[in-house]
Amino acid sequence: MRLPPADVLARRADSLVPAMQARGIDVLVVTSLSNIAYLTGFFASAAALLVTPAEFIVLSDGRYSQALAARGLEYTRVRPVELIPGASYDAALVDALGPYRGLRVGVEASHLTVNRYRYLTTELAMRGWATGLIETADVVEALRVRKDGWELARLRDGASRLSDVAKYIMSKDLVGLHEYDVAGDIDAALRRAGFARPAFDTIVAGGPNAALPHGRPAGRRIERGELVLLDFGGVLDGYCTDLTRTVVTPPGEARARRVIEQVVDAQAAAFAAVAPGRAPDDVDGAARGRLEAFGLGAAFTHGTGHGLGLDVHEAPRVSRRREGVVEPALEAGMVLTLEPGVYLPGWGGARIEDDVLVTEDGAEWLTDVPRLG
Ligand code: GLY
Ligand code: MN
Ligand code: MN
Repeated sequence: MRLPPADVLARRADSLVPAMQARGIDVLVVTSLSNIAYLTGFFASAAALLVTPAEFIVLSDGRYSQALAARGLEYTRVRPVELIPGASYDAALVDALGPYRGLRVGVEASHLTVNRYRYLTTELAMRGWATGLIETADVVEALRVRKDGWELARLRDGASRLSDVAKYIMSKDLVGLHEYDVAGDIDAALRRAGFARPAFDTIVAGGPNAALPHGRPAGRRIERGELVLLDFGGVLDGYCTDLTRTVVTPPGEARARRVIEQVVDAQAAAFAAVAPGRAPDDVDGAARGRLEAFGLGAAFTHGTGHGLGLDVHEAPRVSRRREGVVEPALEAGMVLTLEPGVYLPGWGGARIEDDVLVTEDGAEWLTDVPRLG
């Protein structure tokens, strides 16, 4: 796995300083593992980070001893703190916060558990901290939303490899196979392509199951002349890519083909609407408008897309406008999916999903796979 080099991480740290100042905090307790990975290049299933004015104090445990120590050598802003066996992260965080009494300490309200928040506030109060913890939102996520050059290289590589996996599975005769066997084949192909793991549970849904946007692969055998929805993604160097194709098994059926073409048309309309400065809900509206014109508006039951990065679902949210919420406009450097779909219960459904980079003057497809089989 390639890790971000120190100069890339240093630029992220430089961007974090003004973001913290703008929120009036001196120290930030980071408990989102993706945010920790973004800021430090340390990938682990358990960790906490204290961003202080001078350093990144990274807490982790013995399972990550070597990786943690190596991070401290490769990126000297990181001060590794390995928990002694049996110690709790909660107690270690209180200890690590000790020297920062009197400073303004922020926490990530979307990621800190209620239990940990209660523990920290109680313990710090018992130690005489007069100021509480300041709740923050999206301090690090706001930096992550525009990908830097290093991230874009990872995402381009992932999208290219994912496209090869799609071409492989689309070239196979699926008739007679169980959905879960096809899913297993896709997962093995992801590994062969170099991905560390699937980005989410692979979806293979045939016939009436294709009417379930997130159907679980089941024991059903794929039949002739039906729609099969294949949705899969991979994690490469920590970065997620995500792709859906819907195929019609031979001999094909005119209605099934037409529905796929209509979804492809909606996706093209969404792509044409992507540009810096555009509202994400305009992009959603472009796809939705096409499907409404085909009489399929009610069958499009989810948003048009989502951001991609260290998380498979991250900002921006490309969906209908929410009452009282103004989504930030699209910016160059964002990477997102465009994935309109239609679902007709009892009959089937179709979704087509590709990954897109917002460029200075529009958009660029990152995935590259035929859409009509
Ligand atoms: N399968 C997850 C997604 O496409 O968003
Ligand atoms: Mn997706
Ligand atoms: Mn998907």
